[in-house]
Amino acid sequence: MGNFSVAIDGPAGAGKSTLAKAAARAMGFIYVDTGAIYRTVGFAAKRAGIAPDDAAGVTALLPGLSIDITYIGDTQHMLLDGEDVSDWIRTPEMSDYASNVSAMPAVRAYLMDMQRQMAERYNVIMDGRDIGTVVLPNAGLKVFLTAAVEKRAARRHLELAEKGINTTFEEVLRDMRIRDERDSNREAAPLRAAEDAVILDTGDLTLEESIQALLDLIQARMSEGGMV
Ligand code: DC
Repeated sequence: MGNFSVAIDGPAGAGKSTLAKAAARAMGFIYVDTGAIYRTVGFAAKRAGIAPDDAAGVTALLPGLSIDITYIGDTQHMLLDGEDVSDWIRTPEMSDYASNVSAMPAVRAYLMDMQRQMAERYNVIMDGRDIGTVVLPNAGLKVFLTAAVEKRAARRHLELAEKGINTTFEEVLRDMRIRDERDSNREAAPLRAAEDAVILDTGDLTLEESIQALLDLIQARMSEGGMV
């Protein structure tokens, strides 16, 4: 029997990674954070002195890049030319780089195989912006996670504060609006729910309720498909 894939898409701060990680742990699936892959390309661009919106520069960089996903325990780490860059790709600057480079069709094409191979090898819960629409159109379950932008910004602000990254709520909210706008309105694989995605609004749910809602969806779909 083939592997079962869960595609989770939605805007920044909707809780995709937290929920996907928790559900993957509960189900014994591999969690794949595709945003981290785009962030790694962004990091490589920054390191090479290329501006975030320099599409020709970033495209020229791609053939020489070596990007790998590896796992330490159940935590995903990103390797750039063999170096673990996971700690460097989470800053607001790298969010901005990632959002810019992810709008470039050459970057999306370059990363496609890597993402599909993960789903061919393992049962995955993969999160991103275009997983259900483009990367895994045959995923066993597609979920579009969402919440109001103010709630998402408040969560992201707290997350950054916990990591010791100093920003104000207003800054986070402004950046999130800009990213929402760019991720949703770009030509290449814009953020949108797949037609067959289940919409899950986590705005009024606690973390535990959100995780349970996601697990319920996965278990229901797997038992419909005779997978459990
Ligand atoms: O999920 P994240 O914040 O780590 O994603 C960083 C950026 O990468 C985000 O602005 C959108 C982009 N992205 C994408 O275009 N497609 C994906 N599958 C994942 C992320």
